[in-house]
Amino acid sequence: MTSSALICETEPWKDLKVHVDDIKKTHLRELMSDTKRCQSMMVEFDGILLDYSRQCATLDTLNKLKNLAEAAHLKEKINRMFNGERINSTENRSVLHVALRAPRDSVINSDGKNVVPDVWQVLDKIKDFSERVRSGAWVGATGKVLKDVIAIGIGGSFLGPLFVHTALQTDTEAAEFAKGRQLRFLANVDPIDVARNITGLNPETTLVVVVSKTFTTAETMLNARTLREWISAALGPQAVAKHMVAVSTNLTLVEKFGIDPNNAFAFWDWVGGRYSVCSAVGVLPLSLQYGFAVVEKFLKGASSIDQHFHSAPFEKNLPVLLGLLSVWNVSFLGYPARAILPYSQALEKLAPHIQQVSMESNGKGVSIDGVPLPYEAGEIDFGEPGTNGQHSFYQLIHQQFNIQPLAFTGELVSNHDELMSNFFAQPDALAYGKTPEQLLKENVPEHLITHKTMSCSADFSGNRPSLSILLPSLNAYSVGQLLAIYEHRVAVEGFVWGINSFDQWGVELGKSLATQVRKQLHASRKKGEAVEGFNFSTTSVLKRYLEASAD
Ligand code: F6P
Repeated sequence: MTSSALICETEPWKDLKVHVDDIKKTHLRELMSDTKRCQSMMVEFDGILLDYSRQCATLDTLNKLKNLAEAAHLKEKINRMFNGERINSTENRSVLHVALRAPRDSVINSDGKNVVPDVWQVLDKIKDFSERVRSGAWVGATGKVLKDVIAIGIGGSFLGPLFVHTALQTDTEAAEFAKGRQLRFLANVDPIDVARNITGLNPETTLVVVVSKTFTTAETMLNARTLREWISAALGPQAVAKHMVAVSTNLTLVEKFGIDPNNAFAFWDWVGGRYSVCSAVGVLPLSLQYGFAVVEKFLKGASSIDQHFHSAPFEKNLPVLLGLLSVWNVSFLGYPARAILPYSQALEKLAPHIQQVSMESNGKGVSIDGVPLPYEAGEIDFGEPGTNGQHSFYQLIHQQFNIQPLAFTGELVSNHDELMSNFFAQPDALAYGKTPEQLLKENVPEHLITHKTMSCSADFSGNRPSLSILLPSLNAYSVGQLLAIYEHRVAVEGFVWGINSFDQWGVELGKSLATQVRKQLHASRKKGEAVEGFNFSTTSVLKRYLEASAD
């Protein structure tokens, strides 16, 4: 395959298209009865167990997917990423979030320069700063310890840190280090989010961390100005230096905003926003809350998966297997959505984070060379912790036509048997369903048989694929592992689909249109200018809004 050819034009893709018919004829009940198959569909690495035996796939499917990976030059693309090549070609950037968690002595080059020492310089600065804040060596303007932190940021400057924070809150070791401290996240530009964040907090004991890669994001900058005002009004403008710090790649704008550059924590354009939780974006607020040592364990967990992803053979490589199976489900079996169902309340923010990582990365309509895609890339991710989800949307998953591959994520070592009973039961309920014969034997009245056979096409009940990821325990290290598995899975999908998973032009379009509207609102309110330059619908609704919100 030449670099600009589409993957759907290759023989392995065409072969898989033909193979779909065989698979659709084979029920999961039959596939699950083949112990040898099931055995080879369980893979373990560094304590994590992936069981993908409930995928609508045979060993032959796996071979064909390996051929597809070869045709897509997957290995070369992974190597190019780790080698710091500018694989984000539309933005002319390397993609090196793996460098953010690389051991201190490793070498990862970008443009011929080893970036690891720069990464560790910032990590050391965070360690030092967070220890000073936590110990009271760095105090607020009135001499009080800064025990509360508000992290302002949105998208990748928010979702990843929130996911990790939520997961660590219940980890006994991390929680011990967080005693007496609070970490809050301010993301939405809706003033209610500001009000909720500052409620109960005292500016004297609060540190505000402004997190923005660009330092231009409208929501974040407005919230940053609002909290700057909150601090200045209470403690005087000079207090900002003690109560506000920043994380950004744009240190010039940080300084312009009024934050001392010495109190700014840098990262680099080779870190994509949605892949930035392991940079100062996540490490600073999380270190302030839990201490640097805990966060270092999180980085080590992610790094362990990075090394595995880079070097393990594909048949044992967790992110590669997950990515290839996603492509199989989306592009061949036609399942457009994926439910992420962690059987662990601590992972309640996993799905919102993965929504961004996956959908902003792979929701693309053109190949990396700008050729319109004749196939779907990307999938819809959604989710809710089990068992809550079971009492919400599982009904549709059990019976609807567009069967959705699921990722159950539970803890292998767990003392909550009630929760884990569901974790183990649901995948089988989805895979096996019930046959009319079984139900009749159970004396189910005839008029309820179709309702209970979970059948959407008259042929089958059950046959809903899923896969399970089991963690040995939930702690900073395994949260890092989980994060990296999902990040690399998304990259694998994108590499095979032949798209650029690291830009987000659709989002940029929305941002520029919002700027136009903002300018119009300002001109109408301040100068009484008429609404113009928009279509009939937008003009009408804008006018209505201006009338309703006029003072
Ligand atoms: O949502 C779009 C996006 O560009 C994300 O990729 C990014 O994480 C987010 O905006 C926030 O951007 P910034 O960190 O520059 O404020």
